[in-house]
Amino acid sequence: MMMGSMSSAETSAGMKKTAFGNMPDGQAIDLYTLTNRHGMQAAITNYGGTVVRLITPDRNGHMDDVVLGFENLAGYLQTEPYLGALIGRYGNRVGHAQFKLDGVTYHLAKNDGDNTLHGGLKGFDKRVWTARDVSSKGAPALELKYLSKDGEESFPGNLSVTVVYTLTDDNELKIDYSATTDKDTVLNLTNHSYFNLAGQGNGDILKDQIMINADRFTPVDAGLIPTGELKSVAGTPFDFRKSGVIGAHINDADEQLKLGKGYDHNFVINRNGPGLVLAARVTEPTSGRVMEVSTTQPGVQFYTGNFLDGTLHGKGGKVYKQSYALCLETQHFPDSPNKPSFPTTELKPGETYKETTVYRFMH
Ligand code: GLA
Repeated sequence: MMMGSMSSAETSAGMKKTAFGNMPDGQAIDLYTLTNRHGMQAAITNYGGTVVRLITPDRNGHMDDVVLGFENLAGYLQTEPYLGALIGRYGNRVGHAQFKLDGVTYHLAKNDGDNTLHGGLKGFDKRVWTARDVSSKGAPALELKYLSKDGEESFPGNLSVTVVYTLTDDNELKIDYSATTDKDTVLNLTNHSYFNLAGQGNGDILKDQIMINADRFTPVDAGLIPTGELKSVAGTPFDFRKSGVIGAHINDADEQLKLGKGYDHNFVINRNGPGLVLAARVTEPTSGRVMEVSTTQPGVQFYTGNFLDGTLHGKGGKVYKQSYALCLETQHFPDSPNKPSFPTTELKPGETYKETTVYRFMH
């Protein structure tokens, strides 16, 4: 049965703006729904630059929302684990909540044990961005801008950030990040979407197959801070160079899996030079949905939703339990400001930070 199928129907592509809720101070927040020719939709709010819905076809043409999230702004204003949000200034962790730059030690907020996670107490995920429709023919696109003031969350420099979400006719959600600063600073931008290719809230992701294009990963200490080693995945549960079932080894007696409570690790993407490379591919067996992640970034954090514990009730009243989603956060390596051997995350005045990540959906 192909009831409700939109796979063959040509849908009118474009962008629609609707109300999403109000900030505690009354400021109105919007939801922008981008639709492509095949009926694929990405709904994004200017609160946190958050991907709220991502609706893609399965092998029977049935459309499902494949990201975790909430129905409205109120859901996102409660404490929540960054569902779908843009993350900055520094995605992932900064060890001991401090780093040194040009001889000055910067002290950040400790919001993850002794460390800083995802930009501190009020990261980019909790900021209101300025939105603009920058669609071109056949490609709805939303530009989001945010000026992070010098000293915000204790990071130096006025950092001007632009993120453009584009929905292409190849069923890709493309995210282009750029930023400039007026003082030497560090940054690491990413998007924190939680994917479940069987449809959000529809069980766990442990039966999914994943391929990660990485010969090495960055093992961590008890605070999930990289030790500095780039460790070979060979002979470990981290070897996804050939596609493997996510749950096959997740409970192995492996020190790194125990520290992460599952997978919560940065992989070093194999690349021969700059540009977009395939970082990972996920295949969901029942729906037949496939997601490919390509990026210009050096790393990708593979996270199996280990901290989801059934307390969050998301869209449609769905309960989000442990492993009910996976994240593939393309990024520079965690704690790079304190790891001179890692690719640098410094940005200087006159330079432009530029990164691109593409999530492509197939079936
Ligand atoms: C990232 C981190 C995880 C966790 C989630 C948010 O994926 O690596 O440890 O903090 O964000 O809950």
